[in-house]
Amino acid sequence: MKRLDHIGIAVKDLESALRTYERGLGLTCSHRETVEAEQVRTAFLPVGDTQIELLESASPDGPIGRFLEKRGEGIHHLCFEVEDLDAALSRSKAEGLTPLGEPRDGAQGKRIIFLHPKGAHGVLIELCQRSRKKTS
Ligand code: CO
Repeated sequence: MKRLDHIGIAVKDLESALRTYERGLGLTCSHRETVEAEQVRTAFLPVGDTQIELLESASPDGPIGRFLEKRGEGIHHLCFEVEDLDAALSRSKAEGLTPLGEPRDGAQGKRIIFLHPKGAHGVLIELCQRSRKKTS
């Protein structure tokens, strides 16, 4: 476990949310990316050693679209950067955390996996590894 990589925030309108975080809070967007597989448009704003990830749904049926429908805007997940995703995932599974799918490519060229909030006291957790090291 290296650091808190980012905090993901589900928003209805990415442009409006960017205005809030840039003009209202003085942050600067460093990277924007659409992740087709997750049906999401993202914008990253660095804050010291971590980042805010704004997430707008690219489709009402995608994971962010469903989240907004059920819960409204707000904090969606915490992402921790790990040295070795496979090792971190094995440990999490051994302790009862449930992965959602298999490790896959996420935004910013990272390899990622999400862990179900039920096993994590109500918080959706993302683990990411920066290099795309394939160990299996
Ligand atoms: Co994320």
